[in-house]
Amino acid sequence: MYKASNERYDNMQYKRCGKSGLLLPRISVGLWHNFGTNADLENCKKIIQTAFDNGVTHFDLANNYGPEAGSAEINFGKILSADFKGYRDELIVSTKAGYYMWAGPYGEYGSKKYLTASLDQSLKRMGLDYVDIFYHHRPDENTPLEETAGALDLIVRQGKALYIGVSNYSAGQTKAIAAIFKRLGTPFIIHQPCYNMLDRWIENGLTDVLEEEGLGCIAFSPLAQGILTNRYFSGYPADSRVGNSIFLPKERVEKNLSISKQLNEIAVARSQTLAQTALSWLLAHDSVTSVIIGVSKAAQLKENLAALDNLTFTTKELSTIDKIIGADKKHST
Ligand SMILES: NC(=O)c1ccc[n+]([C@@H]2O[C@H](COP(=O)([O-])OP(=O)(O)OC[C@H]3O[C@@H](n4cnc5c(N)ncnc54)[C@H](OP(=O)(O)O)[C@@H]3O)[C@@H](O)[C@H]2O)c1
Repeated sequence: MYKASNERYDNMQYKRCGKSGLLLPRISVGLWHNFGTNADLENCKKIIQTAFDNGVTHFDLANNYGPEAGSAEINFGKILSADFKGYRDELIVSTKAGYYMWAGPYGEYGSKKYLTASLDQSLKRMGLDYVDIFYHHRPDENTPLEETAGALDLIVRQGKALYIGVSNYSAGQTKAIAAIFKRLGTPFIIHQPCYNMLDRWIENGLTDVLEEEGLGCIAFSPLAQGILTNRYFSGYPADSRVGNSIFLPKERVEKNLSISKQLNEIAVARSQTLAQTALSWLLAHDSVTSVIIGVSKAAQLKENLAALDNLTFTTKELSTIDKIIGADKKHST
């Protein structure tokens, strides 16, 4: 029977999510990959337990995480009921709806019909009464924003979510939905964008909107799915995301390999691994509340948590990083 470490809050740092009352750990763990049907449940348990033992209170899911879609929530539910029964009030669990989940016209996007049904299904899969944060996973131009916002507001009033977030919304879309939430009095507190050294799109307007609206920012794919680590420095390991997921084509890794190796030299000079430097770089930004990392092993998680030991960069380090990446040339992964 798992018992959480008594020292679990000693080393983690927490940051307020925008202007809300919610504190999030600087490093959160996501279950997009490595928690699906074919995952080894013992390995999954070890990752979640190691995270919680080190102060990671926040776990990020979505209806479609797996594969198969839904299986990450089912496995997370199994872990919660086996090991975390007494710890629900110490956990921030998020899930999302927006991408394809079931057949027919009501299984994706942003209608009230889809969002309310999807969250009910997610709660059932995880064995929870409520989630802490419920996200609209992607914008839907064909559903009135008022309807999507209204459905999310209803979900909070029903007690099925405490806070609301959006993901993959542009600066303009975020501003527009924030205005509706303000009218409704909805606790809209967070945006979840892709953000890492190689993908800087949020710096072109979104971070300003988040600041103006008092919203938190939790960065997904902070390691560019493993490109910003030493994972591919000597080939393509059989158990790596390349080869096991359509979301990380080998060509994307190859295109960025020389950049990663150059960034690694900066990491070594900072006495960090590349993964640690990539996370520290994000966490050094005022706009970033937390980063959601993915890991396939507890050892990766432990390595990544040590990023918190050095979150400062010299001006020279920052400009060298920008030069390597060609940030001024709008590099994209
Ligand atoms: N809202 C959205 O649309 C959206 C989209 C994507 C992700 N997300 C969220 O963000 C979370 C994280 O995304 P992500 O998995 O792409 O994040 P990531 O942290 O950029 O990449 C995770 C992968 O990097 C590799 N890795 C991690 N630490 C490592 C280390 N120390 N050394 C070597 N390799 C290491 C592992 O690859 P291997 O598996 O090969 O070991 C791991 O699976 C997801 O779980 C999800 O919660 C949200």
